[in-house]
Amino acid sequence: MNSKWIYIALCTLSIGNHSFAQKKATSEQTIEKLLQRMTLQEKVQMIHANSSFATAGIPRLGIPPLIMSDGPHGVRVEHGNDWIVDKNVNDSGTYLPTGNTLAATWNKSLGYSFGTVLGKEAKYRGKDVILGPGINIIRTPLNGRNFEYLSEDPLLISKMVTGYIKGVQDQGISACVKHFAANNQEIQRTSINVQMSERALREIYLPGFKTAVTEAGVNTIMGAYNKFRGQWCSHNNYLLNQILKKEWGFKGIVISDWGAVHNTTEALMNGTDIEMGTDIGSPAFPYPQFYMADTVVKLVQNGQIAESIVNDKVRRILRIMNKTHMLGGKRIPGAYATKTHQQVAQKIAEEGIVLLKNERNLLPLTNTIQSIAVIGENAVRKNAMGGGSSQVKATYEITPLVGLQQQVPHNTTITYSKGYSIVRNATADTSLINEAVAAAKKADVAIIVGGWVHGYDYTKWSDNAYDAEDTDKPDMNMPFGQDALIKAVIQANPNTIVVLMGGGAIDMRQWIHQVPAIVQAWYPGMEGGTALARILLGKVNPSGKLPMSFPKQLSDCGAHKLGEYPSKNGEVRYNEDIFVGYRYYDTYGVTPQFAFGHGLSYTQFNISGLSLKKIGKQVMASVTIRNTGTMAGAEVIQLYVNEVKPVVKRPTKELKAFEKVFLAPGQQKQVQLLLPAEAFEYYSEPHKKFVHQPGQYWILAGNSSDKITAKAAIQL
Ligand code: GLC
Repeated sequence: MNSKWIYIALCTLSIGNHSFAQKKATSEQTIEKLLQRMTLQEKVQMIHANSSFATAGIPRLGIPPLIMSDGPHGVRVEHGNDWIVDKNVNDSGTYLPTGNTLAATWNKSLGYSFGTVLGKEAKYRGKDVILGPGINIIRTPLNGRNFEYLSEDPLLISKMVTGYIKGVQDQGISACVKHFAANNQEIQRTSINVQMSERALREIYLPGFKTAVTEAGVNTIMGAYNKFRGQWCSHNNYLLNQILKKEWGFKGIVISDWGAVHNTTEALMNGTDIEMGTDIGSPAFPYPQFYMADTVVKLVQNGQIAESIVNDKVRRILRIMNKTHMLGGKRIPGAYATKTHQQVAQKIAEEGIVLLKNERNLLPLTNTIQSIAVIGENAVRKNAMGGGSSQVKATYEITPLVGLQQQVPHNTTITYSKGYSIVRNATADTSLINEAVAAAKKADVAIIVGGWVHGYDYTKWSDNAYDAEDTDKPDMNMPFGQDALIKAVIQANPNTIVVLMGGGAIDMRQWIHQVPAIVQAWYPGMEGGTALARILLGKVNPSGKLPMSFPKQLSDCGAHKLGEYPSKNGEVRYNEDIFVGYRYYDTYGVTPQFAFGHGLSYTQFNISGLSLKKIGKQVMASVTIRNTGTMAGAEVIQLYVNEVKPVVKRPTKELKAFEKVFLAPGQQKQVQLLLPAEAFEYYSEPHKKFVHQPGQYWILAGNSSDKITAKAAIQL
């Protein structure tokens, strides 16, 4: 390249650098100029809702409204301004698998794909903020919203939520990580006061949110309904000002949950930036009377509140508007209900469905199977509109029955019988059971599709049942008499497969020893039936792993054994402390039904040859994994850390790294997993920070928390 072109290149580069810095300065200047041109009234109208899901814009200054929408696994059915909706609006879109299905893939890259679809669809639907992901820790199997959340483990949450948020925000849409913090039950969610140790807060309940802020750069965060240590989460000084904005340096927007603001001064002073939903369903409470509305104008005008308090909130809103090009600049077009999005939904379902048990290699069903008896109302039930605010009006939803009908070889006959009724308080129905038994007797295999349900009549918000917002499960018992059905069918046909839909663990003790094959299918989205059928028929090798433990019975669960639930005198104390999920079962010697990280494959893998190499305070682990079977598949290498002589009580093991590896039959790979310095720390309450205790540590490698196949010690 001759000197002339080099000169031009250098000029272009310098202009480039200059323009980047200049652009940043411009955006800050733009924001300040806008702020200076705003009246107090205009500023205040930006910090509270002016309809069900939006705040007001300022047209004269070119500031648009900030339009939000649920939910975590699809853009919610249109709600317009206060649910006044154009009947012709196209709001049938992609119903992605729910959060726990995504987490069950243990595939970090799928988090990004998931978020990309959500961001594109939100953009198409004219939204600026999508109200997800929900990442509260799965503390009890009873929480009605576990289906929306990801895991009992903070590292798995952190790794999956990063891709999700980046996927959404790379589409120019703001994600809204929720519900900050300690919203781990739905019972009494708008009144309960949560108490826990600082160590439990820092080691278990905050890391997912911290990662969302400091690594994923989330634009907005939603304050939870409950109280934490006596103060409402949506205006909690410790959580919002001290931790979120000061310690973590969060520059985005704190949005209250809908109706979660209760006090003007606290909301103004404790970090709430936008008040939403205070008037839920009661038009008698018009927007100007919100806590952060006309009252604020008066407080500033009479000098009780400094206008700088309001300015900071508006500055945050303008920054995020600027970051997502709402104040000018090129906005990426959206896309809606596309084939590609549906394929992503299917892929996530295929990688998230978990094969829990497979005796006699009953699965996958081979071509020798000529007849299948499909049993259970969950086989024909559509779930997209269920669960509460996370509802989605799906373009379509392939149920398990339809999936099987579409995927089986043409010469295979399929019968269907209801088996049980999804009706409030329904018990075992003898005639339905007899019909199912008769069908099972005549078939080569029986597939019972059971488990939990969202609700009964989705057109009614209040008609929630088990896996739904604003409600928790009463216990872990199978509803609608499913236990009796399963026991009767297995007697009639030993080749019976049980498929469980739903948000998590269910009590299997009455039949688990008789049933040879069990599949956990969660709420697998609009292509869930296709994905399930392809797994059952061996077109896809299952690779899902449980993102939460499945206890045998509720009383085995740490939160119920050591902790309080649902509450005592309006408070719930997390006495189990950091011992949540497998941290409890392993440390206290309680064997779960199925362990955290458990999931079978149709092929076999061997994880061996663990070696460790110190890199400063970090450790690079290297393992060899080989597909020793005859089918291509994927395995999740999980690395757990155990401190040999801790100075405080620590869990027997804690997940500190994982990697999903895809291998052809006979293929072998050397996989490296980095354990950062933080992997060897615990939170010291006396020091008020994470500390490292020098000593010996075991690194445990395996494909489940209860299947460790290699271990190595290291002195750190
Ligand atoms: C609900 C939920 C929250 C949702 C919001 C808006 O009560 O708690 O997750 O995003 O209100 O619907």
